[in-house]
Amino acid sequence: MFIIIFLFLQTQALFYPMQVHLSWTENPSEMRVSWQSRLNGKALISYRPIFCGNSSDWTNIEAETTRIDFGTEMFRYSFVHTGVMNNLSPDCHYEYSVSNGYFSSDNFVFYGRTPGQDKRSSYKMLVYGDLGTHDYGKKTFNLMKTMAETEEILGVFHMGDIGYNLNSQQGLIGDKFLNMIKPIASSHAYMTVPGNHEKANNYTAYKQRFTMPRNEANQNTSYFYSFDIGPVHYVLLNTNPYLKTSLKDERDTQTNWLIQDLKKANENRISVPWIITLHHHLLYCSHDPSDSGSRKDCEVQAAVIRHNLEEIYYENKVDLVLSGHVHHYERQASIYKNETVYGDVDELNKHVNANAPIYIISGSAGNRIKKNDPTAPNPCLWTRFMSNDFGFGTLTVLNETVLLWEQFSSETNKMIDWVYIIKYFKKLNS
Ligand SMILES: [Fe+2]
Repeated sequence: MFIIIFLFLQTQALFYPMQVHLSWTENPSEMRVSWQSRLNGKALISYRPIFCGNSSDWTNIEAETTRIDFGTEMFRYSFVHTGVMNNLSPDCHYEYSVSNGYFSSDNFVFYGRTPGQDKRSSYKMLVYGDLGTHDYGKKTFNLMKTMAETEEILGVFHMGDIGYNLNSQQGLIGDKFLNMIKPIASSHAYMTVPGNHEKANNYTAYKQRFTMPRNEANQNTSYFYSFDIGPVHYVLLNTNPYLKTSLKDERDTQTNWLIQDLKKANENRISVPWIITLHHHLLYCSHDPSDSGSRKDCEVQAAVIRHNLEEIYYENKVDLVLSGHVHHYERQASIYKNETVYGDVDELNKHVNANAPIYIISGSAGNRIKKNDPTAPNPCLWTRFMSNDFGFGTLTVLNETVLLWEQFSSETNKMIDWVYIIKYFKKLNS
């Protein structure tokens, strides 16, 4: 009897909505929710404002449903559902649940603050690349989960190399990853860009699971996009096309869009003073020359990415460039053409009015099944701090003048590095 009840509950659980996760859209005051299930009923989203003066009536909307066909195995199929909650207010939190037409999920809560909505300054984002589902990644995720439960986190930036790999084992690894991140992603926007581990089958598994802001240039692929949150303009790019000569069209499309996007951001700099770009591959890194993996990343690929992006970043006064890909943490100074560029103040943990982009690599979240890449025995002159502890970063926008970056180790559960990046407005008009 016990076994029958157990099997019934297990089977029933399979049919409930799974992998519920949020993302911001291309429009202000919207939150997309996506999930999967084994059932193809009338997918619905129900949400209502809470903790604010607005009406707390439930709004019900229908979601889109697409079947995921995993191809090779008869019983490996699933449906992905996605829909957008709108008219959100930054003064409210929202309670919501999703249904596949037969079974509903638990209720989740998220904050109604979205990009493009208002100019309130202060907030904190989780930032990392290269997470995966192995033990190291799980440990990093658990530390982030604790932070998200105890502090107000606005959202997440995952800079590629997401699940190692989302498409592996007929998508079972993708399922595992999405279920792993649900405790954070069901209540915070989980914003992604593809890394090299998302390229398989023309990004099919990535596209099935993550829908990011769409625009005309990205032709609804949502591989690259930008938005403003408070005083920061964020640009998220797909760096894969820069590393394959046959992808010239994709590369040119994104680069042309980037130049126009940064031009507009600079015209708007009085009200949105900061520009931060995020992508998987890096422009600069120190490495251990005896480690062949990081040698390729830091010498060969970094040179190609620099060739494509450095001049654009420098000319457009990008403040901070965040990336992953090498499996270590490395914070660097302001750099241009491989030289440190000095600002008004350049102390170990403080930059004031930098004159070139500051670069940070946080690609140490978990990766596959091995220890992170070794740190460099002889770091480059612009390296300010390196660690190969597993972990993640946070970006705190303190106000319009001050950003704080911190890196946390999930091996020691401690903050291991930080830097204040400060910019005075008088500088913007000079
Ligand atoms: Fe990578």
